[in-house]
Amino acid sequence: MKVFKKTFTQQEPIPAEGIAAAIEVMSSGRLHRYNTQPGEKSETDLLELEFAEYLGIPYCLACSSGGYALHIAMKAAGVQPGDKVLSNAFTLAPVPGAIHNCGAVPVLVDVAEDYCIDLNDLENKAEESGAKYFLLSHMRGHIADMDRVIEICKRFNLFLIEDCAHTMGASWNGKKSGTFGDIACFSTQTYKHLNSGEGGLLTTHHQDVMAKAIIHSGSYMLFDRHFAAPPEEIFEQIRYETANYSGRMDNLRAAILRPQLASLNIQCEQWTQRYQAIEKILAHCSLVQIPTRPKAEFFVGSSIQFSLPRFSTEQILRLMSCCEDRGVVLKWFGDPEPKGYTSRYDSWRYIQEEPQLPKTKEILATLLDMRIPLTFSKDDCELIADIIVETIEECK
Ligand SMILES: Cc1ncc(COP(=O)(O)O)c(C=O)c1O
Repeated sequence: MKVFKKTFTQQEPIPAEGIAAAIEVMSSGRLHRYNTQPGEKSETDLLELEFAEYLGIPYCLACSSGGYALHIAMKAAGVQPGDKVLSNAFTLAPVPGAIHNCGAVPVLVDVAEDYCIDLNDLENKAEESGAKYFLLSHMRGHIADMDRVIEICKRFNLFLIEDCAHTMGASWNGKKSGTFGDIACFSTQTYKHLNSGEGGLLTTHHQDVMAKAIIHSGSYMLFDRHFAAPPEEIFEQIRYETANYSGRMDNLRAAILRPQLASLNIQCEQWTQRYQAIEKILAHCSLVQIPTRPKAEFFVGSSIQFSLPRFSTEQILRLMSCCEDRGVVLKWFGDPEPKGYTSRYDSWRYIQEEPQLPKTKEILATLLDMRIPLTFSKDDCELIADIIVETIEECK
């Protein structure tokens, strides 16, 4: 019997260049982003400039986590307590959590068969709710038709915040994910496409939004020390009216991120090759449903999702358990109990009115998920896919 022996939570080591840069920061003792000599740019400053350049967006702020970036993005956009914010029902808990952290109310939108947000439901909910903000999570790297998303945002005058925690390096029709909306937020937490343990990046082309985000992040009155930022005069009034919610990035994290950013595109290709190796084998199993990725989408296959629409709950549970016995760790988005990193929308009970989303519940009921760390080779991926298919056959 084939068994897989590697671990699904093992990421690659930090590149030697990043370790050397981190040692230099530690040796200097100057870990705080504003602890610079006159005229010097800190590692955090350089990371912001380099990420802004990578995306082709003028302003970037490095902060303590992706969830924190989402929170201050909404605050900087003007979300007030009680405001409605449209967002995906199929996403991870930091997304509705960031909305709740603003005192705002999530209006959850159904998932579609391709695991993207359901754009028909988005239109309906935008109309019904009158929401003015839309936090779009490109959940698990599945990018919705961005041309239609933008058309809907224009029609309903929605302020769009993209959650790119899973799409750093991805694009739609050649345009990078995170450059469609008013603001984009990225995560550099260990299991994302850049790894600093914890960390986040917020980008925007709006001067006032970035000025507020910088003050929120805990710049004290050192905003003039930011380089991927609007001119000082934009802060003139904002600095009195914007609260400090300390959540800065430090130079140590920035130092290990910069060399990773330099090789992000190569890494993304590698993820996608591994994804395709798994997809090819799974697609041969008639019980498996995997959405065909649209031609316009350049995705980063750092995880894979597939459905088993003919499987009952008991069969899904048996499959997961048998796969685990053979070293393959699958997660289930349909589990009514929140477990590990997955939680179904109806377990977010702080949302006052439980959303009624039977279509989403039905899709999530047989939706499975698996991480693809780059420590797995293409051969490893083929072995994993073989084990999954064999186990599906056993459980059918
Ligand atoms: C879809 C999604 N959005 C946002 C976040 C928040 O990122 P962080 O863990 O850096 O707060 C995560 C993290 O898991 C996520 O999966």
